[in-house]
Amino acid sequence: MRGYLVFLILSSIFLYYILHGILWRESSSWLRVIEMRRPPMMLSCSLKPAFESLLSYRGIYPFLCTSDLNAIAAFQESDKIALPYGVKKSVHYFQLALSRLQSCDLFPETDKVPCKKCIVVGNGAVLKNKTLGEKIDSYDVIIRINDGPVRGYEEDVGTKTTFRIFYPESVFTNPEDHDPDSVVILTVFKSYDLMWLGDLLDGNTPDISHFWKKPALNLIYKTEKIRILDPIITRIAAYDLLHFPTSFPKKEKPKHPTTGIIAITLAFYICHEVHLAGFKYNFTDKSGPLHYYGNTTMFMMSTNEYHNITAEQIFLKNIIEKNFVTDLTQD
Ligand SMILES: *[C@@H]1O[C@H](CO)[C@@H](O)[C@H](O)[C@H]1NC(C)=O
Ligand SMILES: *[C@@H]1O[C@H](CO)[C@@H](O)[C@H](O)[C@H]1NC(C)=O
Ligand SMILES: *[C@@H]1O[C@H](CO)[C@@H](O)[C@H](O)[C@H]1NC(C)=O
Ligand SMILES: *[C@@H]1O[C@H](CO)[C@@H](O)[C@H](O)[C@H]1NC(C)=O
Repeated sequence: MRGYLVFLILSSIFLYYILHGILWRESSSWLRVIEMRRPPMMLSCSLKPAFESLLSYRGIYPFLCTSDLNAIAAFQESDKIALPYGVKKSVHYFQLALSRLQSCDLFPETDKVPCKKCIVVGNGAVLKNKTLGEKIDSYDVIIRINDGPVRGYEEDVGTKTTFRIFYPESVFTNPEDHDPDSVVILTVFKSYDLMWLGDLLDGNTPDISHFWKKPALNLIYKTEKIRILDPIITRIAAYDLLHFPTSFPKKEKPKHPTTGIIAITLAFYICHEVHLAGFKYNFTDKSGPLHYYGNTTMFMMSTNEYHNITAEQIFLKNIIEKNFVTDLTQD
């Protein structure tokens, strides 16, 4: 059985390259061969979005599913890369966490909008007093980041959330911030993140000794609303969009994309049109506010050792200037 499966996967890959080389130079579905249950998105969108030229892979499904975790990982070579950008040596933890979830659906079955117009709402202070709330709420898909609040900031950031991307140290813990309509997406950086999720879903107290900042000790979201992001999305953000090196000097902390850039990468794969708000920062004003909420200052951003903000600003400037995205808070 196992040998048969391996044979099937290998021959699928072989077939893919043959067909790709001969027939489908402009093929729109990279994973057509084994992703039967995941229909390619945007099939009925006639014009290809401009940002498509940035995407090195086509037809990536953004969430992990239990049924084909191994096959997809092998196909995308995520099984050759350790966390945070692959699943090597952590497949077991991924399986354990995924086995507790109930769905890996992207959109509800009732959703019939084929070409999605999306907005990624960053957490930047630039959103303050711009009263963009109503405009933001008008998009088909609204992607928010970490614990960027809606409650109390509705006029400036809107009320609706389709997706919220988080990690264990950044997820809401106050039930008042719960939105029953949101799907929340875990970005996994270490195997402890998966154990943390599994423990919370099982009602156990997670081991929090391996976190850089205290993670949430309760989950306000329903199991059926939780998804796990395929690390390939973060990998594409890091290597293809931000051009990070694959290894860093020993004395330096490896840089990873911020949740904001991961959210934009996700949007590129699930949307036909991508707009941004709240991604512009005033770097000369070190004592100015960083977010549209709370008291964190710009100084905190300039001292972050885990991200490369310069690379992210170059990327953002580039996609805005080339009109790959529209930025609602540019001026
Ligand atoms: C936003 O408006 C509030 C209330 O009108 C005001 O106190 C605050 O200073 C304004 N903030 C900015 C950044 O303009
Ligand atoms: C950025 O902050 C500096 C220092 O407070 C200020 O002089 C400048 O006008 C700000 N720039 C923008 C574009 O708001
Ligand atoms: C921000 O600072 C104000 C005034 O110092 C304080 O009242 C408020 O609680 C702080 N907010 C947060 C989220 O820390
Ligand atoms: C951050 O990215 C920029 C632009 O790619 C690069 O020049 C710089 O060396 C990077 N900095 C670090 C600390 O990795």
